[in-house]
Amino acid sequence: MAGWNLDNINWENFQKNKVDDSLLKIIRAASLVEYRSGDYVLYLKKVFYDDKEFIPLIENWGNEEKLHGKALAKWLSLADSKFNFDESYKEFYKNYSININADESVRGSRTGELLSRCVVEIGTSSFYTAIADCCDEPVLKQICLLIARDEFSHYSLFRRGMKTYQKNERINLKNKIFIAIGRVFEATDDELASAFYFGNRLNGKYNRKKASNEYAYYALKLYKEIHINKGIKMLLKALGFSSKYIFERILTKFVFIFLKIKLQIIELRIS
Ligand SMILES: [Fe+2]
Ligand SMILES: [Fe+2]
Repeated sequence: MAGWNLDNINWENFQKNKVDDSLLKIIRAASLVEYRSGDYVLYLKKVFYDDKEFIPLIENWGNEEKLHGKALAKWLSLADSKFNFDESYKEFYKNYSININADESVRGSRTGELLSRCVVEIGTSSFYTAIADCCDEPVLKQICLLIARDEFSHYSLFRRGMKTYQKNERINLKNKIFIAIGRVFEATDDELASAFYFGNRLNGKYNRKKASNEYAYYALKLYKEIHINKGIKMLLKALGFSSKYIFERILTKFVFIFLKIKLQIIELRIS
């Protein structure tokens, strides 16, 4: 288990006057996605059906992701009395689904699946660290630090699994990079966009592009170079590169500048 539960959060330290509206928007979406972990547990249990050691670890992982959703939902109940988690979750669940009937990984191999899980955990680990670093509200800060720590250990779990599987399933570096980049770009898919739409009860009919841009606008603003650098280090390690400071720095600068340009383009689109 995560090593923490809702009783370990210092809820009495909550300060309503330090709640930030932009953060509220992305936390509403994050709470729905985190709480949704059950479907991914079912999917991964099908992909790794005969791995008796890994199955309980997947179940534990799913419980931790669900705990993240519960902690964020409880914080939202203090920060925003108008937010109805159950209703938003119901709408989100009804309108967005993942394929849980896959007999094998949609990434083509178990190694590819584990690499793509590493990419997701790199994303969530840097996301919650970035929120904790910019957040003034003490309870949200505490929650995000605990979640970021869990996300890092999830990344380590999937990376260890990947190292085991890739002994027998050789994937060349080009394909690994293709899988990793593909998974990064899936961040603009329906899951986050619809969680943002239903979590924030946006006006009008659901429009993936519009909701995805709005989500990205609030999320990308959070990232500082240090968060990108941490993510790049984790990604390079998952891809099997040995640590090369100069390469890491150049890649970090490149990604950071790319994200800043992307943020400006999105800002123009949504204004
Ligand atoms: Fe999580
Ligand atoms: Fe995670």
